[in-house]
Amino acid sequence: MSDFITIKKRTHYCGQLGSEEIGKSVILMGWVHRRRDHGGVIFVDFRDREGFVQIVFNPEHGPEAHQEAHKIRSEYVLAVRGTVCRRPEGMINPDLKTGTIEVMVEELEILNEAQTPPFSLDTDADISENVRLKYRYLDLRRPHLQRNIILRSRVAAETRQYFQKEGFIEIETPFLTKSTPEGARDYLVPSRINKGTFYALPQSPQIFKQLLMVSGFDRYFQIVKCFRDEDLRADRQPEFTQIDVEMSFITEDDIIGIMEGLMAHLFGRCLNRTVSLPFPRLSYAEAISRFGKDNPDVRFGLELRDLTDILTDSKFTVFREVAAGGGLIKSIRIPDGKRLSRKDFDELQNFVSIYGAKGLAWARVNADGWTSPIFKFLTEDEVNRINSRMEAAEGDALVFVADTPNIVHDSLGNLRSHLAKKLNLIDPELFSFVWITEFPLMEFSDTEKRYVSTHHPFTSPVAEDVKHLPGDPGKVRARAYDLVLNGSEVGGGSIRIHRKEVQSLIFDALGLEKEEVRNKFGFLLDALEFGTPPHGGIAFGLDRLIMMMTGTESIRDVIAFPKTQKATCLMTDAPSRVSIEQLMELSLKIV
Ligand code: AMO
Ligand code: AMP
Repeated sequence: MSDFITIKKRTHYCGQLGSEEIGKSVILMGWVHRRRDHGGVIFVDFRDREGFVQIVFNPEHGPEAHQEAHKIRSEYVLAVRGTVCRRPEGMINPDLKTGTIEVMVEELEILNEAQTPPFSLDTDADISENVRLKYRYLDLRRPHLQRNIILRSRVAAETRQYFQKEGFIEIETPFLTKSTPEGARDYLVPSRINKGTFYALPQSPQIFKQLLMVSGFDRYFQIVKCFRDEDLRADRQPEFTQIDVEMSFITEDDIIGIMEGLMAHLFGRCLNRTVSLPFPRLSYAEAISRFGKDNPDVRFGLELRDLTDILTDSKFTVFREVAAGGGLIKSIRIPDGKRLSRKDFDELQNFVSIYGAKGLAWARVNADGWTSPIFKFLTEDEVNRINSRMEAAEGDALVFVADTPNIVHDSLGNLRSHLAKKLNLIDPELFSFVWITEFPLMEFSDTEKRYVSTHHPFTSPVAEDVKHLPGDPGKVRARAYDLVLNGSEVGGGSIRIHRKEVQSLIFDALGLEKEEVRNKFGFLLDALEFGTPPHGGIAFGLDRLIMMMTGTESIRDVIAFPKTQKATCLMTDAPSRVSIEQLMELSLKIV
């Protein structure tokens, strides 16, 4: 075996070397990133998890090592001993942390060879993601992915430290369990011992963490995998990680305070950034009304304003009819809207049509009126009132959608983000947090033809709204809160129901049969009768938080071994078929 590994041992990571080490003898181990030959001298960009350093094979400095160095290729694994030297004037690389030094190699051992990788690890050029995922272990050698995964580890460590300091107890909850309702499908695991029965992988530890409160643990946290079989998107994975929290004898403000403290701790320790506390709060109704969404990006303006009252008697038939039918007419003011051409407005109209909008009226505001396809339908008074409500000045543009409230909010809410990107209105350095509160407890599901929980069925209703529960459950507000960061929902939670009567009222309003409730949650209902303290909690999506902290667009770039959009792993080829014997053992048959 190599005595580099057994006796000599590594003294430094490549990326950690600097001018302080000049003159020192060092031993490094890592991968060949790139090799360059220059008139007999061989230069190698040498890489390990901490970064790069240039190592130099000079025949005068280390003749044997230089001889051996002719064999090395990209991604070979080397051990080298050498001396840290200042780089000659003119060879300094300011882009590299180690750019003022290089290591003159005296001894080289090739620890292993490597085939030419299927893609270059050396450029950030777009490589097909399928190839990257098939060779994920190589993809993970790339510095930006290493940085993301290392940051993730720091965030997890700092999270543990914060919660320990705040008196929380870390407790593991089972993966082989019963269905936990979070609105997605379950991943099922067949039981061999109890044939014909199945475990469900948890969509979250929700019920268990509530039971831990019944047991008196008082403050619980866990960094935990959750499993949800749902349609995947850029910020969703079938298995993902939550920072899961539950507390007893508390109100919303206590939980919000603890989680704001966690954010300040993590952004401070891991990114060296101060976040200002407390975070602003918006009610769900206000978020929808001003931003069209319950996860608004508040880094920029472009807020929605309601013009319905001004336009009820408009000569523009579309507006008049929408107003008469209980719909809304809303508008966004685009500062300096002169930059938008007619073609741009056409593109924006196509964009909102994805969300069901039947049109997008627009106006350019001039000193003496508007340039607009709807100008001819409006009175001077209407135009003046709209200008004043929108605070529109010469040079601005306005866009309008008239439709049902859902379509208006959906289309303008998404158009808002689209415009901010298109017009470069987002400062990428900003981290803008906002709490959304007072969600509706239930929503009517057109597919299921019944009310379903907005969050989950254990969320407490606002006390004064409980009276609406039997008659008009859509009116009931929940004691729930979400944390939104730069337009992404990074966390959500609620105060829970701790009385059995209230829990039963909720199950009734959700149209769940007694039998079904007993089968699914009987153990929770029993527990509520044995002294359950008032309690509540929250869960943060760790993956999404890391996405925000690293400025990454894809959740796959913050997970070491992620799944594709089709929930497959291209490297291991999971999910895959199993043998007949395995199926027989489980008494399963594929139909
Ligand atoms: P919720 O379902 O809102 O709440 O989940 C909490 C947070 O987890 C993240 N998240 C996801 N991240 C990646 N991929 C997914 N498929 C995915 N689904 C959710 C989001 C979300 O805000 N038990 C409750 C919490 C509670 O009430 O305490 C729960 O799971 O960032
Ligand atoms: P029309 O008279 O149908 O050509 O419409 C005049 C303008 O109104 C066009 O710019 C349309 O895009 C716009 N428009 C049509 N329907 C709507 C609607 N529901 N909301 C907002 N604008 C609309």
